[in-house]
Amino acid sequence: MHTFQPYPADMLELNPFTKIGKEWMLITAGNKEKANTMTASWGGLGIMWGKNVAYVFVRDSRYTKEFIDASDTFSLTFFGEQHPALKYLGTVSGRVEDKIAGARFNLNYSDDTPFIDEGNLVFICKKLSATRMTADQFIDPKLVDMFYKDGDMHTMYVGEITQILAR
Ligand SMILES: Cc1cc2nc3c(=O)[nH]c(=O)nc-3n(C[C@H](O)[C@H](O)[C@H](O)COP(=O)(O)O)c2cc1C
Repeated sequence: MHTFQPYPADMLELNPFTKIGKEWMLITAGNKEKANTMTASWGGLGIMWGKNVAYVFVRDSRYTKEFIDASDTFSLTFFGEQHPALKYLGTVSGRVEDKIAGARFNLNYSDDTPFIDEGNLVFICKKLSATRMTADQFIDPKLVDMFYKDGDMHTMYVGEITQILAR
């Protein structure tokens, strides 16, 4: 296992557009018995309810969603580049195979929250809200046509960033 140090949020220098949108991240949830991870490139960082938060968008069909829903926490793991394994982890479902082993990744834990040990920056998030988006909420109906024709909607999870870990 690698050694991670707590990192103060005030010292963080990152561009969310490149970090999330171009390098991508892994959303991991579960417990010490069973966990799952998936690639995500939609989401953001900000302030909500007076707290530092991360928000992520997870479709109904994702196996990882079951783990997020069953847990009080989830983690976001970043790599500092677009790691080649993130294509695999974003294409294959953990329902079909043990993806974490398949990617030659290992689980590490902050208390009971799993994260991917091979990353270099990790956000531990405590779930604050879960909002399933529905077609009637969209101002621009084209988005529904483009992204939700099959009804596989996103749930927006807002998580308080309770710990930042850096390797
Ligand atoms: C670059 C990339 C970004 C992705 N971003 C998201 C996302 O933000 N939300 C989402 O629900 N799925 C996203 N996916 C798709 C999931 O990662 C993919 O369906 C994955 O296989 C789900 O795994 P699971 O069923 O084990 O949870 C993305 C896939 C890739 C390749």
